[in-house]
Amino acid sequence: MASTHAASVLVASNRGPVSYALDESGGLTAKRGGGGLVSGLSAIGPDTDAVWVCSALGAGDREAVRRTGGALDTADTGGRRVRMLDIDPQVHADAYNGIANSVLWFVHHMLYQTPLEPAFGAEFRRQWAAYEAYNRAFAEALAQEAGEGAAVLIQDYHLTLAPRMLRGLRPDLRIGHFSHTPWAPPEYFRLLPDDIAAQVLGGILGADRAAFLTQRWADAFTDCCHTVLGPGIPSGTRIGVHGLGADADFLRQRAHRPDVDERMAALRKQIGSAPDGSPRRTIVRVDRTELSKNIVRGLLAYQELLESRPEWRERVVHIAFAYPSRQDLAVYRDYTAEVQRVATEINSRYGTPDWTPVELHVKDDFARSLAAYRLADVALVNPIRDGMNLVAKEVPVVSDEGCALVLSREAGAFEELSEDAVAVNPYDIGGMAAALHEALSMGAGERAERTKRLAAQATALPPARWFLDQLAALEK
Ligand code: G6P
Repeated sequence: MASTHAASVLVASNRGPVSYALDESGGLTAKRGGGGLVSGLSAIGPDTDAVWVCSALGAGDREAVRRTGGALDTADTGGRRVRMLDIDPQVHADAYNGIANSVLWFVHHMLYQTPLEPAFGAEFRRQWAAYEAYNRAFAEALAQEAGEGAAVLIQDYHLTLAPRMLRGLRPDLRIGHFSHTPWAPPEYFRLLPDDIAAQVLGGILGADRAAFLTQRWADAFTDCCHTVLGPGIPSGTRIGVHGLGADADFLRQRAHRPDVDERMAALRKQIGSAPDGSPRRTIVRVDRTELSKNIVRGLLAYQELLESRPEWRERVVHIAFAYPSRQDLAVYRDYTAEVQRVATEINSRYGTPDWTPVELHVKDDFARSLAAYRLADVALVNPIRDGMNLVAKEVPVVSDEGCALVLSREAGAFEELSEDAVAVNPYDIGGMAAALHEALSMGAGERAERTKRLAAQATALPPARWFLDQLAALEK
């Protein structure tokens, strides 16, 4: 297939670095996204010929594609060339909501439970066909955009089939696939019908390299290949591990802007003082409201702390930011409602006229998240499973006076941060309550020392390095 643009580096992901909102008069407003991939790509400089291929995700995006033919205005993208694909909305919904978020996400995070047990019938097969079509649309666009021998970095569980499809179209390319999620162990992965399990693995094995955030997820992938496909990684695909750290320069600078200071003052007012006049202690959590984040059990652990150690009543506030995610799916909406219900119940059971035990906020506000990071005494990061979890790495970087980190041993970040975090089993509510007590009781000196070491670990692999290392590994 002929190259139309001949890019030498390409990135492909479902969600791109920019999204568009459409107003009533037909105007389009571009909103640039953040995250590791965006800052990683900036490492190769704005003047390179890199192209980012992504999908239109809403009416605003689709209108932007219609007006530009898919090659977005670089003024909206920070100078980057972005090719946005307008995939049929039904195909996208089936691939993204149906297969990626309801099946593959659940498998890798081991989230199935009654009544959410998997049932792979005709509806699943229909959605799988959409997932294939969606992956093919990406493979074809990448094949068109890529110059001879280009490096292509394909991201995540939305795009597991694209590497093999692209390999078929363009054998000259160097293809990498990166999984930002955990990978399920074979006993769990084999919940998938056998032919689908083989397609997912075989799709990724179409890449020259399959990379993961931690050795644990890489090993699970290899185990799945042996169990499902037979011994040996058949295509000779290399397996890599690239941890992703916090972007220290960006965070430290952003966390000291006036809007963050303002939000700190407002939060301090909300938190208030204990009956003896001392400022209340704070347990902070910041998550997207995803089942894997384990927010409900975190709240129940806090409730158990108040119940079993009444000395903390009126002396601590749990600031929980639970930002909406994937609200097209009923299971996510129900989970959001459950988080709100449990928070309200704790407040009505323990609250007093001048103490609100849980401050739950659901409206996304990055400046307020940073403000909470700066003032937190304790950060609670207790996912059931998580590819990495950047909150665990960001808090120590911006903390003003030191923050004790309560961290699930099932988060990818645990591999790097275990020495100075308070480890928890995310299912053990009693254990998490005890860990919160331990973290709240930690002396200021020890907290500051641990935070310093956590911050050093957390920033050891900045996004720029994460990105450049992958490119370099593809060269070999
Ligand atoms: C989390 C995961 C990423 C994934 C992203 C998709 O951040 O760690 O692996 O790509 O979710 O989120 P979205 O909002 O696009 O469904």
